[in-house]
Amino acid sequence: MINGKREKISEILRKQEIGKKCVLYGWIKTARFSKNVYFLSISDGSCFDKIQVVVDDTESVDKAQLLTGACVKIEGTVVESPGKNQSCEILASGVKVIGPTDDKYPLQKKRHTLEFLRTMPHLRSRTNTLMATLNVRNKLSMAIHEYFQKKGFLYIHSPILTNSDCEGAGETFQATNLDLDALALSGKPVDYSLDFFGEPVSLTVSGQLEAEAFAMSHGEVYTFAPTFRADPSTTPTHASEFWMIEPEMAFYDFEDLMVLIEDFIKAITRQIKDACQTELAFFSKFINKELMSRYDALLNNTFEKISYTEAIELLRKNRDKFENEPVWGEDLFKEHERFLTDSYFKKPVFITDYPASFKAFYMRMNDDGKTVACLDLLVPQVGEIITGSQREERFDVLMNKVEEKEMDYETYRWYLELRKWGSAPHSGFGLGLERMLMYLTGIENIRDAIPFPRTKGQMYG
Ligand code: 4AD
Ligand code: MG
Repeated sequence: MINGKREKISEILRKQEIGKKCVLYGWIKTARFSKNVYFLSISDGSCFDKIQVVVDDTESVDKAQLLTGACVKIEGTVVESPGKNQSCEILASGVKVIGPTDDKYPLQKKRHTLEFLRTMPHLRSRTNTLMATLNVRNKLSMAIHEYFQKKGFLYIHSPILTNSDCEGAGETFQATNLDLDALALSGKPVDYSLDFFGEPVSLTVSGQLEAEAFAMSHGEVYTFAPTFRADPSTTPTHASEFWMIEPEMAFYDFEDLMVLIEDFIKAITRQIKDACQTELAFFSKFINKELMSRYDALLNNTFEKISYTEAIELLRKNRDKFENEPVWGEDLFKEHERFLTDSYFKKPVFITDYPASFKAFYMRMNDDGKTVACLDLLVPQVGEIITGSQREERFDVLMNKVEEKEMDYETYRWYLELRKWGSAPHSGFGLGLERMLMYLTGIENIRDAIPFPRTKGQMYG
């Protein structure tokens, strides 16, 4: 038995039982050697903090093996620490290297760039920055579940394999088990009746359409799942595989939707502020000195609400500040969004009621016949973290949209049927987990906010 007899570092630091004998396992982060005493900083991943191990019987260990990255078993006694950074430490009576390493180990103690660390996603979670990010990611995921569970939402698993393109952007990854090499050699067109499902299938870009089905049985539901986009953008906020949280609620109109989103974002932010103090202190020191002012901007303000049409007017008054002219009927450029969040409002902003022409088919048409009841939530520095809308619940209006966009009726038949039998007004939104995490940690590249990043042209391991 190993786990049953060991003490976790998180527990040792929490209990502070001076004089207690214990056994711990972990990895050497740093080792310092003086003549009669060695100091090892040990992490076991149970918390962000390391514990200092003092080895005064230096004869009993092979110094050459005490390398950064080595896995060790330590036996010793909890003692008070004279150092000001830690409350207690371990006076070792035995140190055994159980997983040796060598001088080729890439994570020697000097600081590495995040770019360099991306080339080794299997090792980088051992660094302070990635460990802290993944710790916050864990707490954030749980805070999200807790929020919706407390409100009585049903956690639903929408499928990953699908034949629909929810966003209609054509950014799907096809999933096939056809022999592509043989097909290419044959020179024949693809016969999808021979493919695994007998039709073209792809990885989902969003679980929303299916979530809507369950909102029509369970009222309030949410998904929390990976989504996949063959989006060619290689910006710091775009990944090809990312996680999305997609709540979908019957009997919520557009106003209800905005109330829920603001409450939700504030609740999970507050939760991270309370639950991740050690990690946030680290991020504030090494990643973004202004990090905590982001929390204040979000928690102490009411989110701004501005319609797309008003936003265009405001942007046009400042057109000399932009490379791209803001034009009604065209999507906003990143520079326009940054102006609104970072320079003008300096807090989270809902931009609402975009033109129907460049928005997804499922968004509810407004009475003006031109705009749809939708929103983007933008936050300073990161940009868009949420898109949401009231859904088109009127069969005829939706059917017109499907025809107008020349969508395949058979593929969306079930979605239209939801409007035929017991249709209800409903709304929903999608939050990108990594983008929220970027806002909460100050991490500037989405590749560092997900364990194994996937972006165009790069699998990163
Ligand atoms: O804005 P999007 O495309 O909206 C939807 O997919 C809707 N079906 C959501 C809904 O109403 N249920 O994506 C939603 C969010 C974005 O605001 C962003 O935070 C994130 O998902 N996102 C991405 N994150 C990382 N990389 C990408 N390529 C992303 N695309 C979207
Ligand atoms: Mg969007």
